[in-house]
Amino acid sequence: MTEDDAQLEARLEEQAVFEPSESFVSDANVSDPGIYDEFEETWPDCWEAAADLLDWESDYDQVLDDGNPPFYEWFTDGKLNASANCLDRHLDERGDEAAIEWVGEPVDETNRTYTYAELHREVNEFAAALRDLGVEEDDVVTMYMPMIPELPVAMLACARIGAPHSVVFAGFSADALATRMDAADSEYLVTCDGYYRRGDPLDHLAKANDGLSTVEHDTTAVVVDRLGDNDDDFGHGLADGQHDYDDLVDAQAGAEVDPVTRDAEDMLFLMYTSGTTGKPKGVKHTTGGYLSWVSWTSQAVLDIEPGDTYFCAADIGWITGHSYIVYGPLALGTTTMMYEGTPDYPDRDRLWEIVDEYDATQLYTAPTAIRAFMKWGEQYPDRHDLSSLRLLGTVGEPINPRAWKWYYKHVGDEECPVVDTWWQTETGGMMITTLPGISDMKPGSAGPPLPGVDVRIVDEVGEQISAGEAGYLTVQKPWPGMLRTLYDNDERFIDEYWAAYSDVDSDDPDDWVYFPEDGAKIDGDGYITVLGRVDDVINVSGHRLGTMEIESAIVGVEGVAEAAVVGGNHEIKGEAVYAYATTENGYEGTDELRDRIITGVEDAIGPIARPERVVFTPDLPKTRSGKIMRRLLENIADGEEIGDTSTLRNPDIVEDIQAEAGD
Ligand code: PRX
Repeated sequence: MTEDDAQLEARLEEQAVFEPSESFVSDANVSDPGIYDEFEETWPDCWEAAADLLDWESDYDQVLDDGNPPFYEWFTDGKLNASANCLDRHLDERGDEAAIEWVGEPVDETNRTYTYAELHREVNEFAAALRDLGVEEDDVVTMYMPMIPELPVAMLACARIGAPHSVVFAGFSADALATRMDAADSEYLVTCDGYYRRGDPLDHLAKANDGLSTVEHDTTAVVVDRLGDNDDDFGHGLADGQHDYDDLVDAQAGAEVDPVTRDAEDMLFLMYTSGTTGKPKGVKHTTGGYLSWVSWTSQAVLDIEPGDTYFCAADIGWITGHSYIVYGPLALGTTTMMYEGTPDYPDRDRLWEIVDEYDATQLYTAPTAIRAFMKWGEQYPDRHDLSSLRLLGTVGEPINPRAWKWYYKHVGDEECPVVDTWWQTETGGMMITTLPGISDMKPGSAGPPLPGVDVRIVDEVGEQISAGEAGYLTVQKPWPGMLRTLYDNDERFIDEYWAAYSDVDSDDPDDWVYFPEDGAKIDGDGYITVLGRVDDVINVSGHRLGTMEIESAIVGVEGVAEAAVVGGNHEIKGEAVYAYATTENGYEGTDELRDRIITGVEDAIGPIARPERVVFTPDLPKTRSGKIMRRLLENIADGEEIGDTSTLRNPDIVEDIQAEAGD
């Protein structure tokens, strides 16, 4: 390190507040600080600004109907189609500009560009094909696909014909796919033969077929030939009720499908996510409110405009990819990048190579990735010209100040603002973040709530707490991008998100408060630091996993009597899965059983939920009422001092578990 570098490091280490660069501010989409007061004074009408970013077939009557909280309706009676907003309306002005730049994992493969005109054509053809297969308006179509262009094509084709999609992350297991298809009564699946991971082709169709074989109703599947007609094909062929994607699209060459007129409140998609109880929750998002929200936040926070080449390195199988790879960027008419592979294949500079080659203007990724980049070293970004970047973003978990500063310095060259965006599957889009053209940034703190978003930090009984103290994050007013309910389960929707701080018998919207199940604190400037989940959800590499789901997979393994799962600190992943298990009579905690537990979790959920450690113990620490004390297990996972054990029925067990875990 040269002297200068050392000085720079020291300065960055100390600096707690960063101003956005003048060059960014002078060109930012939103740069008037008056927006905060203006939105507060005009709420909820301020959200016309979001709706105005879309083309409506017929105007809405009311911005917000809050007559039946918490079942809020936004832009009531407005009519629009999401696919028309993401495609058709751009054709005249930018039909020949790239809508999607797709980069496959193999370096010697030809990357694919879809102009808006090409994407429009393929979406129309596939929409016609789906109709021919029998898909009708409001039928839920499931997609189980990796990062290939046919995924957004299928999503937009569904949106075009008014069929909600439910995308299942390709890394999830066959069981997870089947559970989600059953829960949504989804009879249609779009999937693919395989894809590449770190140089090897993966057999995805085998997993999809396994899942389909356990779905409780008949299904029709479309299979994309991702791997081509070579040896990588795994030779499954297509079963009865399965169709080749290319054949379907070719047969519809030139077809045009009029976008179906959808009501603002009609469902655009379902996305299953983890919660406290074992069963995943089907979060329902609508056409008008969701699309307005992701468009407005893409413009105001990611500073997207047509002509940009925007790169979000998330996976479309999660909400980040839905909102900020597909819907937000395409609604705004920009170029959105998609990358199939991992950032370290074939080398640890793959992302920087893509940014360099495509002159990406924004990069949006997760803290877990940034921590990995930091560990690999700055020589990788340093090898490339990253000067096209104008803005950096992070999402998914808290970012530690060191990682923030590394990103700011080594990727953004101290010129790009960093937006640390807090939001959830349920919120549809961003809620808490600095506005890059207005606010100073404080590494480690997401920033103030967006204008028009009413976030408060409260104590157990809902009283606002003082600056600096840890409390619970709440959202006090509805917003257009909010989930409308949980699929087919209004009761659970109220229980999970509202009951904690609302008067559930009231029909006054002021008595209803949304609880995202995160802890947080606020400073004197109104900047919010999100502390993490306060429920039984853990966040592994920015992926949300329910501990109960993992536990039920483990107790399903022969020989396991009881299991408890907690999140332990992990340098790169943020949190990692730590499992504690007791064995049934006649079974021992052997390596063989440990392997079966790991396989059991991978089969039930997927490799992302794979336990980092499995600790066998004669008993789990329990209170006198029989509740497992997870906090103690977390302390053990983190090698921390053990908290109060006086309420335990079996305090002696703690030492045994520590000894086991220490091995
Ligand atoms: O705990 C918060 C964390 O991720 C959770 C939401 O996970 P999911 O629905 O999978 O959506 C992830 C992508 C939006 C939140 O409840 N989280 C998300 N963003 C941040 C965060 N924690 C701290 N800082 C963030 N910027």
